[in-house]
Amino acid sequence: MLSTRFTQHALVTEAHKTIQSRLSAKSITLDATMGNGHDTLFLARHSAKVYAFDIQQAALDSTYQQLQKHHLADKVVLIHESHEQLRQHIPAGEKMDVIIFNLGYLPRGNTTIITKTQSTLSALNQALKILSPSGIISIVCYPGHAGGQEEMSAVTDWYQQLDSHQFAITVIHSMQETAQSPRLFVIKAVQNILNNPEKP
Ligand SMILES: C[S@@+](CC[C@H](N)C(=O)[O-])C[C@H]1O[C@@H](n2cnc3c(N)ncnc32)[C@H](O)[C@@H]1O
Repeated sequence: MLSTRFTQHALVTEAHKTIQSRLSAKSITLDATMGNGHDTLFLARHSAKVYAFDIQQAALDSTYQQLQKHHLADKVVLIHESHEQLRQHIPAGEKMDVIIFNLGYLPRGNTTIITKTQSTLSALNQALKILSPSGIISIVCYPGHAGGQEEMSAVTDWYQQLDSHQFAITVIHSMQETAQSPRLFVIKAVQNILNNPEKP
């Protein structure tokens, strides 16, 4: 199922609001692009354990500082690695209730280090394999920088080929959207009653 809606909020805020319904004190979550740590901090506040990836040491440093400041560092595993390797770092059988991808470059950092289409698609496919049966993936794409439009088109092609019996997809636009504006894609795993007869 594919639906579209608009929001007045910043898309990162909208992503947090959308995700929050799937989070509990027992949740295990993943931030595939930790950056300055805002998403990791949000996840740490609302879950039991968080895995967070970034390829830049500056992102790990900045995220660790944020977590320390809020006494949440113990909940988070910071991984200095491409999200392309994510399955190598998540223990076998561990399922994620929420996975966040906030693509592009590190704000106030090196704007030439960006997420790349091929590794993003590889990470998204791996994310599906470790998603819990009622899990949710949020993806913010930024078409405004070089390579961003290509990456967003690839993400669009990727979610369009997902099985609509297994995943409900929502595309969220900001009210003030221009061609350069970010877009938010939310992929929710749909619990199939036929596959889970004991759960009406
Ligand atoms: C838009 S920022 C993320 C913002 C962040 N979630 C926050 O709350 O501040 C994108 C981040 O993706 C990181 N990145 C780029 N390629 C990556 C990759 N292959 N694996 C993991 N992180 C990557 C960049 O270094 C950058 O820090």
